[in-house]
Amino acid sequence: MTAQAAVLRALRKPRGTAAQGFVATSRRDRWAIYPIIQGVVFTLCASYLTFSGVVWNAIWHTPYDVNGYLSPLFSPDLSRNLDLPPWLSPGLLILWIPIGFRATCYYYRKAYYRFYFADPPGCAVGEPKIHRRFALENALPFILQNLHRYMLYLAFIPLTFLWLDLVPAFIAPEGGHGVVDAGPRVGLGGLLFLVNVILLTGYSLSCHSLRHIVGGKVDCFSCTRVRRVRYTLWQRLTDLNRNHMWWAWASLITVTLADVYVRLLAAGVITDPAIHF
Ligand code: FES
Repeated sequence: MTAQAAVLRALRKPRGTAAQGFVATSRRDRWAIYPIIQGVVFTLCASYLTFSGVVWNAIWHTPYDVNGYLSPLFSPDLSRNLDLPPWLSPGLLILWIPIGFRATCYYYRKAYYRFYFADPPGCAVGEPKIHRRFALENALPFILQNLHRYMLYLAFIPLTFLWLDLVPAFIAPEGGHGVVDAGPRVGLGGLLFLVNVILLTGYSLSCHSLRHIVGGKVDCFSCTRVRRVRYTLWQRLTDLNRNHMWWAWASLITVTLADVYVRLLAAGVITDPAIHF
């Protein structure tokens, strides 16, 4: 056996202690329910968001910015400054960041590895034998999961723009796309945008990688002032991190709803109930 073959063999997935054989388990609970629900919700939201952000506009050129509400999939709206060809959706220039961030998220990995690859189907549940040939996240394509930390850094860029988008959402600008009542207002769309950006911020700040960046690789938290500050920050992030799964689902659903809301508003299917000042 060559040295390279020996290394690859060592990297392969170990047998583990779960029962052997696909979905073999001694569990008595309905373990399949949560992976199925999570997989279906994830698939529906991800499919809709990809379609809306990448395909929909490239084909039908439907508005995604109306009455001061810019769909979060297109923020920042690069089409305002760039002369893009009509077949290229401006969402494509932005969406690779949140898609990459979510696809490499530790929590989502667990959810979609279970649902799509049965790897494993559930905790203490047997998986297909083919997984014994799986080199885990040590070889392409899954070695790319290690980019998560860098996707986290990038994710704060569109997140910053989403906070800035609250200004036109609550103060509709004169002459904006489809603006009918310019000036301060509190509308259902603005409230939805506000909840969405809060949840997205909670999702980003509760990231496992961020928690490690802030509090990891330190032997003594009390030794210097900077380390004491890091410790305090790490504690706050740990509080958020305990509910990372909750932040992940809630923010995925509100992003989807915010885009659906803008699309329906732009199509004239709904109106935006609002109090104007
Ligand atoms: Fe989920 Fe980083 S671990 S966003």
